[in-house]
Amino acid sequence: MKDLCVLILGAGKGTRMVSNRAKVLHQVCGVPMLKMVYRAAAVLEPDEILAVIGQDAERVRSAMEGCPVEFILQEVQLGTGHAVMTAREHLSRRKGDVIVLYGDTPRIRPATLRKLIGHHRNSGAVTTLLTTRAPEPFGYGRIARGPGGRVTAIVEEKDTTIEQKAITEINPGLYCFQIPSLLEALGRLTNNNAQKEYYLTDLIGIQGGEGKPVEAVLHEDFEELHGINTRSELAGLSQTLRAAKNLELMASGVTLIDPARTYVDLDVLVEKDVILHPMVSLEGHTRIGEGTVVRQCCRIADSTIGPRVEILDSCLITDSEIGAGTSVGPSAHLREQSRVGEDCRIGNFVEIKKSELGKGTIAAHLAYLGDAIIGSNVNIGAGSITCNFDGVRKNVTIIEDDAFIGTDSQLIAPVKIGKGAMVGAGSCITEDVPPGALAIGRGRQVNKPDWARRRKCRETNDDQLPELR
Ligand code: UD1
Ligand code: CA
Repeated sequence: MKDLCVLILGAGKGTRMVSNRAKVLHQVCGVPMLKMVYRAAAVLEPDEILAVIGQDAERVRSAMEGCPVEFILQEVQLGTGHAVMTAREHLSRRKGDVIVLYGDTPRIRPATLRKLIGHHRNSGAVTTLLTTRAPEPFGYGRIARGPGGRVTAIVEEKDTTIEQKAITEINPGLYCFQIPSLLEALGRLTNNNAQKEYYLTDLIGIQGGEGKPVEAVLHEDFEELHGINTRSELAGLSQTLRAAKNLELMASGVTLIDPARTYVDLDVLVEKDVILHPMVSLEGHTRIGEGTVVRQCCRIADSTIGPRVEILDSCLITDSEIGAGTSVGPSAHLREQSRVGEDCRIGNFVEIKKSELGKGTIAAHLAYLGDAIIGSNVNIGAGSITCNFDGVRKNVTIIEDDAFIGTDSQLIAPVKIGKGAMVGAGSCITEDVPPGALAIGRGRQVNKPDWARRRKCRETNDDQLPELR
């Protein structure tokens, strides 16, 4: 849309969240509230999206990485009107209209923003705001209407009279302003109110009082405009959106054994014929390929799981990739950009960190593979460990195709096991093993005949060796 910019207010302390973190960073099903608002605004393709930030500014910036937003710092938070004042300079460079949104109203839809700007431009109002009816209006600014039903003011909760408290039409905090008249009216805001803040909402009374055309559009869907001020509201919204996401997944061919106990973040993609068992959490930018099964109590974050994969119970998988047809778990842990190839088998109590495994490789039980580059069709025996950390730095282990690592081996990195080589069980490997060789790195076994029986005699002061039974 031309001659339109969007200003999102997100600097507030969020006192009612009781948090060290900026309120707008709190997540709804894996997406920070500010990002949700940003996404709705971005659909309108405005000339620019500005965001006023303050509390926790650095973290807000990094959470919004990849979203082209111009940040404006409001160092002290003196109210929503003051937040818009902070953006004065940016706004004065723009022509047309500005939509002002609050970063704590994350469910807003682009269609609603279109309705707001559409009405604003058709009516020629200097300011247009959305209103809605709240079943519980407590906490919201109330819409005061005068003769002929015109909006005359927004009255904040703390400034309401008893009669005004009964008004159910509320201000959800979405406005469209003609930029020049907004800039002009901002100068007249005062903090002469119960909270000693500069209220953006006072602009309605100021402009209306001067006879300027101010329009209000009633929006039916209160839920969409619900402001999130407390943890309990955050949990409520998350629950609603999670249920909606689950319905969407089921409609697209995903089986959820128990939807009430399945936690899928908004940005997760799940292909059809996937089965998700109870207590599965799929987080961040995870993708799950067609026909994959995820059993109970698995958490998968920011990972790409191929098709026909089986993830058995109680696995933790973060920032990793798993190829088609592979089986993982139960109780396996994959992390830090691990890439497991196709048709692999990663069994119980295997931890894989920052490692690559080629096609068909097996680590079926109790292994630690860290900083390793492992080829295809390799067999990692139970209890084997890549000793990647020497106390100072992390070192790489290379295991080439078709190698066989015997049970309970320690591979002291940096070290390389050549193609098709074998490592005898219980070995401690400190030197490279050439392709095709067998390496045995352990003490040779010594059998001492009757030693154990004689020890027994000594203990019992017996001079007769006990019978072997
Ligand atoms: C605000 C409205 C109220 C409305 C409600 C809807 C005002 C004065 N009141 O109240 O009429 O019914 O939203 O949800 O606007 N912010 C800043 N800088 C500040 C203060 C706030 O950027 O100095 C940001 C916050 O981060 C937040 C948004 O503005 O995203 C709204 O602030 P909040 O304190 O939540 O306002 P409410 O009390 O909910
Ligand atoms: Ca709020």
